[in-house]
Amino acid sequence: MNKEEKSFYLSRRKEFSKLIGKDSIALIFGNTHRNKSYDGDYKFKQYKNFYYLTGFEEANSALLLAPGGVRLKTGSKVKTATEVLFVQKKDTLMETWNGKRLGFENVTDGLGIQNGRENTELNYYLNGKMLSSFRRLYINFAEMLKLSGEMENIISMFFDSMNRIAPHIEIIDASYVLGTMRFIKTPFEIIKISNAADASIKAYNEILKIIQPGINEFNVQFILEFYYRYYGGNDIAYHPIVAAGENACILHYENNDQHLVPGDLLLIDSASEFKYYCSDVTRTFPVDGVFTTEQKLIYEIVLKANKECIKNIRPGVKFSYINNLSQKILADGLYKAGLLKDKKDIKKYSLHGVGHHIGLDTHDAVPSSAAGSADFDTLREGNVITIEPGLYFTKDMKEIPEKFRGTGIRIEDDILVTGNGCLNLTENMIKEVDEIEEAMRENHTGL
Ligand code: GLY
Ligand code: MN
Ligand code: MN
Repeated sequence: MNKEEKSFYLSRRKEFSKLIGKDSIALIFGNTHRNKSYDGDYKFKQYKNFYYLTGFEEANSALLLAPGGVRLKTGSKVKTATEVLFVQKKDTLMETWNGKRLGFENVTDGLGIQNGRENTELNYYLNGKMLSSFRRLYINFAEMLKLSGEMENIISMFFDSMNRIAPHIEIIDASYVLGTMRFIKTPFEIIKISNAADASIKAYNEILKIIQPGINEFNVQFILEFYYRYYGGNDIAYHPIVAAGENACILHYENNDQHLVPGDLLLIDSASEFKYYCSDVTRTFPVDGVFTTEQKLIYEIVLKANKECIKNIRPGVKFSYINNLSQKILADGLYKAGLLKDKKDIKKYSLHGVGHHIGLDTHDAVPSSAAGSADFDTLREGNVITIEPGLYFTKDMKEIPEKFRGTGIRIEDDILVTGNGCLNLTENMIKEVDEIEEAMRENHTGL
């Protein structure tokens, strides 16, 4: 880990420690491997809250933070510690099969975390004497409950003993405090989201060259994924939605296995991740390179909502206001086109809200506007949100003329709230009708 990374994660631990106070300790667990089937696991992914505080990707780890200090023994020496990272024991055989482990001895040099210990020692350190002086224990509770394997045993022993060794301690879920921190992105994080967005933009430029009738949704899915990597991304940010025709009306369509048919639209909601930070974009393209009159009409309404919402984003504006603005533009557009008799019915066709925060998670784990008394609705400098209006007409919506049915259109961009306005991180991703048609005409190479 380089100096800049060490200093970012240290700053997160310091801020979190300040927020929980000296009479609290925190135990933030990392993820364990997840079984897929028999003896095969899914590819490991670190818990984002743990990653936010450590930048450490190894399984079976836990971070102890004690702003007021705890006594830590090394041999016969005792010192006061405010940070201890518990990691897997080094093990030659396991490392031969599954890859290198950092080892507790290298925690300080490698990660800049004050102290390292083996995870099997967690219970030894979290003893009654140590816990007696604290009033609160913060844990990433929901994440902890999903842990398996060796961590499950360690945790179960710890909680079995809690009511004897420290019955006075109040246990609090850490996700709210961490969520309030994650609400505002630092420059270090904004660069990562931007890098993810750039890989997505470049990959979408490539995919426009190959979209045509007869190819499969999965061709589009996997070629995009190839290009995310090619252009510097590390992973996909979420399971992609590559939805042709009416499939686009299934909001979290995941099969991605149908052939593209002439005359249909193709909705692509897929994006790259960069070093654990997500972008989240959607574009809707005509399968054969030209929008029909009806598709163009709806596309322009959605595009107007997308652009007007982005224009209105600045610190102090409420996210709920932007959401209402989007609904209003969609409703006005459909009403004017004669497709909506009562503007109040817009929800039937717009289905979802205008956007959400992005960051380490695609739907970033920050408190919603309804959480507690704090104001998470008012946009602030350093927020990164999506703007993604959409309109959806299934084939069975008989009140809509047939030529509009079997169509879903969404246009999604990633927006950074700046000091005096906003910056569209996906500004350079194609989205005007004539530009899409021109690119699909001029640059098409096929598969
Ligand atoms: N990709 C999921 C979403 O747009 O919210
Ligand atoms: Mn999306
Ligand atoms: Mn989104």
